[in-house]
Amino acid sequence: MERLDGYVSARANITRRDAKAAIKRGRVAVDGAVELSPERKIDTETVSFDGRTLPRSSFIYILMNKPAGALSASEDKRQRTVLDLLPENLKRRGLFPVGRLDKDTTGLLIITNDGAAAHRLLAPASHVDKTSVAELDGDPTAADAAAFAEGMELADFTALPAELEPLGGNRARVTLREGKFHQVKRMFAARGLTVLSLKRVAFGGVTLPPDLAEGDSRPLTEDELAALGIEE
Ligand code: URA
Repeated sequence: MERLDGYVSARANITRRDAKAAIKRGRVAVDGAVELSPERKIDTETVSFDGRTLPRSSFIYILMNKPAGALSASEDKRQRTVLDLLPENLKRRGLFPVGRLDKDTTGLLIITNDGAAAHRLLAPASHVDKTSVAELDGDPTAADAAAFAEGMELADFTALPAELEPLGGNRARVTLREGKFHQVKRMFAARGLTVLSLKRVAFGGVTLPPDLAEGDSRPLTEDELAALGIEE
């Protein structure tokens, strides 16, 4: 059971004080009936705010286009993290990035406070597809693609079979089903190629929206949540 003002505040991303004021002004309904008491206890009822049904779960799921230079971490004493780039109302909500992109990697990063979902998406056995576009210091060849497809012996582990699709010139699209530290860079290095830039364009069926500028973020849509197997 949760108090109505806390329930609305967590799900509509507003402060508790604003939630209380909204309730008193009749903007919140419980099972279709306007509820004016912020103390009302909510269990399984459906709550709407300005006519829009609020999600039952208070988890937050954000899709960010990570810029180069931001750390994939929740906090760091010296360096800017991806959480520092979120709007003020999303700070102090227990958010963390789902997995890590290198500091110089850009592109799709999911940020949430749903630990169970993050754990599931990152579990090695989940084999969630992660697709990136790499710019290299040379042109990738069919032999490189074959080596990626075979699974590659690296110093401390054998990389699972991966897809490498040359995109013309020195660019390639890579899809991995695991995510070890520096894995894309290390797989190219094993083929004698250096990654000059790396941008993640898809994660488990969610693709980077072309209109989302680097550093910007937005909530995941229902379809994107469904693609990740997250039920609200
Ligand atoms: N592989 C890398 O080398 N870097 C990343 O940021 C992600 C995957």
